Amino acid sequence: MVRLKYRYIDLRKDKMRANLIFRHKIVKAMSDYLDDKGFLEIETPFLTKSTPEGARDFLVPSRLNPGRFYALPQSPQLFKQMLMVAGMEKYFQVVRCFRDEDLRADRQPEFTQLDIEMSFVTEQDVVNTIEEMLIHSLDALQLSIASRPFPKLSWAEAMARFGNDKPDTRFGLELVEVSDLVRNSEFGVFRNTVEKGGIVKGINIKGGTKLSRSDLDNLEAKAKSLGAKGMAWIAITPEGLKSPIVKFFKPEEINVIIERFKGEMGDTLIFIADTFKLTHQVLSELRLELGKKLNLIDTNSFHFLWVTDFPLFEYSANEKRWVSNHHPFTAPHGNWDELEERFARDPGGIKAQAYDLILNGSEIGGGSVRIHRPDIQAKIFKLLSLGEAETKGRFGFFLEALEYGAPPHGGIALGIDRLVMLLAGMESIRDVIAFPKTQSALCPCTGAPDSVDPAQLKEIHIKAV
Ligand code: AMO
Ligand code: AMP
Repeated sequence: MVRLKYRYIDLRKDKMRANLIFRHKIVKAMSDYLDDKGFLEIETPFLTKSTPEGARDFLVPSRLNPGRFYALPQSPQLFKQMLMVAGMEKYFQVVRCFRDEDLRADRQPEFTQLDIEMSFVTEQDVVNTIEEMLIHSLDALQLSIASRPFPKLSWAEAMARFGNDKPDTRFGLELVEVSDLVRNSEFGVFRNTVEKGGIVKGINIKGGTKLSRSDLDNLEAKAKSLGAKGMAWIAITPEGLKSPIVKFFKPEEINVIIERFKGEMGDTLIFIADTFKLTHQVLSELRLELGKKLNLIDTNSFHFLWVTDFPLFEYSANEKRWVSNHHPFTAPHGNWDELEERFARDPGGIKAQAYDLILNGSEIGGGSVRIHRPDIQAKIFKLLSLGEAETKGRFGFFLEALEYGAPPHGGIALGIDRLVMLLAGMESIRDVIAFPKTQSALCPCTGAPDSVDPAQLKEIHIKAV
């Protein structure tokens, strides 16, 4: 709080100054690269209409149009697509975006994207452009990249192996599934979970027997705090197997389980049995904790990773309808003209031409190939249960733009604050933003947000209640 109030003093520190210089250099390297490749930087409006990126909007009342509001853009998504309709084939913008969401160390209410859109491209073209841009920029700053080309995982594989769609690939401890091996066992917890459609998965903590009993208890407590009902374990020690659960299994059953984990003397296996979602949530958190605790994380180079083939839709239990996983302008894989039948058969099984860029286990970017046909775009809105009136009111202008002929196009946006934070080795994006906000979205330096003069409110037709 004090640091942010007197931010101009804080920024005198060598470290903070170095961060701002570093940010300038990395953004310049990326912009120069794009300029070199024929991209144009084009500005898009801040006073605009709501853009659907899944967060709440910041609204601005219109003095000249009583009772009407602009929304600050959550991203320039629709403008950059309309620029493709306009024939600007390669667009980029270093652009502020605004999202009224709960804040964390890697989230600010206003943040900066490196926003990109390209015409006549496939997913691979966008991926290659971004990858070459980052390699060029990191090389220029002498930062080391773990693997080039960047490795790629499908969403399904990322979930299976890491329990997470933004896996930290700087260390192993991958997840292992044993549902098939325990479905007929005597251990009711495992058997019942599989019977009810859940899964049983675990991690082989290599050399894990050096963890103390209280380390294991803490791990189980963490699992429970995340919603797990328990955490079973098997320690492979010179004195034999130690475990609260081996008594429920025949020796040959245990041997097959240990084999599946490639378990060796000195290893400890941990298990979670629950739904697909919870098992993965819990194990991916435990995996991160173990990676840190056992010092397994490679900090000498930067580990980029593409995650692709996301499900196009996910079911929202809250809204009781299917919603877009990325945003509703994302193109599905497969035959677009059979979309309705495919949706009726298996809505969760339709994959998107969408990709996320992960760095050291953080999502630093996301994008997709877009739907460039107005009939298909209208169908998507329908599948998302948006009524015709709502679709017309919110996106009518955009559907109309597509009617004038859009080239096939796609793009991506990188979160610059997150990228710079990670490359600079900082823990919070606040360390790479000159004047950031607090967790409660306050600016201690200026005192914003502030109350305003009643006369000013009257002018914009607003009454505070
Ligand atoms: P998306 O919503 O995934 O995609 O955003 C892109 C990237 O922006 C960063 N980011 C944030 N950084 C700081 N604070 C926040 N509150 C915040 N929210 C997002 C993340 C994220 O990966 N229009 C699409 C892109 C596209 O399809 O081209 C979009 O905005 O690093
Ligand atoms: P119990 O028979 O309930 O005492 O459980 C025996 C062992 O299984 C304990 O170590 C529990 O932590 C563990 N356990 C219980 N429920 C689960 C679960 N859903 N997934 C994994 N392990 C569990």
